[in-house]
Amino acid sequence: MTDQNPVCRRLVGRTAVVTGAGSGIGLATARRFASEGADVVCADIDDTAGKAAADEVGGTYVKVDVTDPEQVEALFRTAFDTYGSVDVAFNNAGISPPDDDSILTTGLEAWKRVQEVNLTSVYLCCKAALPYMRRQGRGSIINTASFVAVMGAATSQISYTASKGGVLAMSRELGVQFAREGIRVNALCPGPVNTPLLRELFAKDPERAARRLVHIPLGRFAEAEEIAAAVAFLASDDSSFITGSEFLVDGGIAGAYVTPV
Ligand SMILES: NC(=O)c1ccc[n+]([C@@H]2O[C@H](COP(=O)([O-])OP(=O)(O)OC[C@H]3O[C@@H](n4cnc5c(N)ncnc54)[C@H](O)[C@@H]3O)[C@@H](O)[C@H]2O)c1
Repeated sequence: MTDQNPVCRRLVGRTAVVTGAGSGIGLATARRFASEGADVVCADIDDTAGKAAADEVGGTYVKVDVTDPEQVEALFRTAFDTYGSVDVAFNNAGISPPDDDSILTTGLEAWKRVQEVNLTSVYLCCKAALPYMRRQGRGSIINTASFVAVMGAATSQISYTASKGGVLAMSRELGVQFAREGIRVNALCPGPVNTPLLRELFAKDPERAARRLVHIPLGRFAEAEEIAAAVAFLASDDSSFITGSEFLVDGGIAGAYVTPV
């Protein structure tokens, strides 16, 4: 197991569910959660990647299409039946397909698919996790939104952006509604992450990368492990006074007007 952090053990005795655990931010977070002592339930639609993640972190794999209500309910039931609690839900699975583009060219089917996978899934996961957390009087839900939920891009992916705005507003509302029951709900808003897909895209088209990098005060994209570190903080009691937040982990993009040269 990759141990990102040998010092912090903030999640010992906690059960954490991660959707989209097979790749990218979800995988880095499953690793980080495990390194902090959590029992990790790795959910993904991709059997190979999901199983590999669960094996690596010594957790449990559950195949889930996060758009399917019954499969989502079964996911949280498995977490509870296997480990006895549901303490952390990292509702993270999402897609960003190429046919979701400018509003001028994006069709209704593409629009709906992205809404289902990115937004309806978060509704379903929160709905399934909350009853366990309410019974325990404790829980931390982290829903993956994006920095595009708080700022506009001329390089539009219209349904993606709208879906992440929805995740942000829903998380805020749930954070407020359940605050006095010991349940915290936060929206994670990552900036662009250095994923294989992004690297491939930008290797082919350096101008495309430069157009984006100029807006990032830190001058680079995030590593998935840096996002995972923020998720672990939100999952843990170290963030006990943080709920209903738009938690930006964006290298400063959302705060910037002119960036350093
Ligand atoms: N990568 C970025 O730059 C970035 C920036 C901001 C926000 N995000 C968000 O972070 C989240 C994770 O992004 P990533 O870059 O790690 O993505 P990724 O493509 O590397 O991983 C996503 C995982 O979700 C799984 N998945 C897809 N559809 C699913 C479904 N219907 N049911 C269950 N699992 C499904 C995939 O199999 C995959 O393992 C997404 O919500 C994304 O929108 C990413």
